[in-house]
Amino acid sequence: MSATLTIPETQKAAIVQKDKSVAIQIVPVAKPGPSEVLVQITVAAQNPTDWKSIDWGRIQPGQSPGCDFAGRVVALGEGVTAVKIGERVAGWNVSGGGAKQRSSAFREYTVVPWHHLTKIPANTSDEEAATIPLAAATAVLGLRYLSNFPQPAPLNKWFLVWGGASSVGLYAVQLAHIQGYKVVTTASAKNHELVKSHGADVAVDYHASDVVEQIVRATGQGGVDHAYDAISEGNSTALAIKALKQLGARNVAIVLPVKDTDPTADVYMVLCSGLLGYPIDAFGMYIPRDERVYQFGLEFTKLVSEWLQEGRFKGNPHTLMSGGLNAIPGGLAFMKEGKVSGTKLVYRIAETKA
Ligand SMILES: NC(=O)c1ccc[n+]([C@@H]2O[C@H](COP(=O)([O-])OP(=O)(O)OC[C@H]3O[C@@H](n4cnc5c(N)ncnc54)[C@H](OP(=O)(O)O)[C@@H]3O)[C@@H](O)[C@H]2O)c1
Repeated sequence: MSATLTIPETQKAAIVQKDKSVAIQIVPVAKPGPSEVLVQITVAAQNPTDWKSIDWGRIQPGQSPGCDFAGRVVALGEGVTAVKIGERVAGWNVSGGGAKQRSSAFREYTVVPWHHLTKIPANTSDEEAATIPLAAATAVLGLRYLSNFPQPAPLNKWFLVWGGASSVGLYAVQLAHIQGYKVVTTASAKNHELVKSHGADVAVDYHASDVVEQIVRATGQGGVDHAYDAISEGNSTALAIKALKQLGARNVAIVLPVKDTDPTADVYMVLCSGLLGYPIDAFGMYIPRDERVYQFGLEFTKLVSEWLQEGRFKGNPHTLMSGGLNAIPGGLAFMKEGKVSGTKLVYRIAETKA
């Protein structure tokens, strides 16, 4: 198969401009180094960090945003034996990379370390697979802290996911359900069927003035045992903490920095890039590489592939944005305006016009 593959010297990529808009430009296709592979991207999926990184200047003009992708392996770096040319894979990378950037999702070809890749089984489409990497990784890192994922849940324990219709929240719902927790989650009423179809036992509308009382009542035990706040904006963390049982460990995982949290709760800030083995330099924090987190990420990556194949785990719903890379500016603006609800925006790269 490898003999028939032609890899171009250049490719189309969505590139940040000086005015922070995004336009299609031609950039070089990088060659994979030791332990790396070159993936031809079929589908890219969008995350909030894609527009935030541009707005906040983490991605400079000339660089390409985009973290999540699915595609096929087209070249192997030295020493790579675990994946083969032509294999379908999904993966993610953190945005950035300087002037000689070699990796991003909003382009035709990306270079990535092979061990970050999930092999996509035959029962899973590239669109479904592309919804998984970054959001599921963020969800599971919080579950590792809260409930020692994948350890099975003790009997009759309740797990709250605040924001179950978000990408991260929907994976937290699904994974806590797989562990055996009773899951209560908050979402707009129109997304209650969705969150239940991914494992929630109870869905509560977060717009209700008695949202906390409804959660506590649903547990029948004075509150939840664990709380994952997949939103961490407005008063979501304060409300999630209020829904915790008064006695026992009062732990909450958050996804954005939250100030002045209730001192009776232990708050864990999820920083997903630790799973890729990077030191974290974000939100004014520097956290060195943590080998245990990295190894946990590798194990989860393998687990996802196995569970997809066994039908134990599924991707989130997606919305296809037609036009490939050309549709990305519109998709970024749509997400920034807070219009994404219960779905992941995905782009088929082959639809891109020059
Ligand atoms: N720290 C990290 O490592 C990390 C990693 C990934 C993401 N994040 C952050 O995590 C957040 C979620 O990312 P995502 O990709 O999951 O977002 P997303 O899918 O775009 O989230 C959209 C969803 O958020 C829900 N939502 C909005 N406000 C809510 C509230 N007050 N209560 C409950 N649900 C609410 C909406 O639910 P309804 O439609 O039902 O109203 C909507 O479906 C973002 O801020 C992102 O930047 C952090």
